[in-house]
Amino acid sequence: MTEEGTGTESLLQAAMEMARKAGEAHMRHFRSAGLQTEAKFNESDVVTVADKEAERIIISGIRSRFPAHFILSEESGASHTGSRIRWIIDPLDGTTNFSQGLPLFSVSIAIEIDGEDAVGVVYAPRLDEMFCAVKGSGAFLNGERISCSSKTTLDKAVAATGFPVDKDSNPDNNLDNVARIMPRLRGLRRLGSAALDLCYVAAGFLDGYWEMNLHEWDVAAGRLIAREAGAAYGLWRNGDDRGICALAATPGIYRSLADLLE
Ligand code: IPD
Ligand code: CA
Ligand code: CA
Repeated sequence: MTEEGTGTESLLQAAMEMARKAGEAHMRHFRSAGLQTEAKFNESDVVTVADKEAERIIISGIRSRFPAHFILSEESGASHTGSRIRWIIDPLDGTTNFSQGLPLFSVSIAIEIDGEDAVGVVYAPRLDEMFCAVKGSGAFLNGERISCSSKTTLDKAVAATGFPVDKDSNPDNNLDNVARIMPRLRGLRRLGSAALDLCYVAAGFLDGYWEMNLHEWDVAAGRLIAREAGAAYGLWRNGDDRGICALAATPGIYRSLADLLE
């Protein structure tokens, strides 16, 4: 047990419950007439009422059950307490897909204990796919254990990537990596939810995924799920102005992808 009532199993159950409620909020607005998108950094970075409603549901759930816990959430930032337990939340990952009526979007909830990934939950409500992991206990999709693929060569691999929101103004926008890597792969996809990309590597639906300029809330749950499913996860660039540059892949192709990324 970490603190009274907060063993990883009860934290996992609480996170899954909150993810389902957040997903219900997504679905109340999905494809609804008159759904507005609001620009944040620019027109490629958007938020909707569903992001905000889902965030309120998750934060009030944490506040009522675990009032001392630290929370980092995309739309409302960070709360400060001295807790050893931190919740990292993306209330709606894939808002561009969501706002277009495309079904690939999710809610991502991670729990860190003493700075280490302990619990990860990613739920895609339209697809009804619940991915979860507890450190050391494997990864699951709707209750069934999942594992990454066993591919060993790029020519048989299908990977996904994504592009930074300032792709229009910053030439360091991943197009050079795409030009180098895409011809070597069986296929390249841009699915539009980083959390689901990582879970799809975990389940072997993708063999690899990389992206630059990500935030903790995009990757915290998915990287634990990927690692618990046997995938390799790491940073392909470090310490520059491009935020988290994440690479997840089945171990047989991780090095080949890492060597091609700049
Ligand atoms: C975005 C999605 C997208 C990725 C972006 C993220 P949001 O998150 O994960 O796939 O390409 O980098 O910012 O804004 O929809 O939560
Ligand atoms: Ca996100
Ligand atoms: Ca988001």
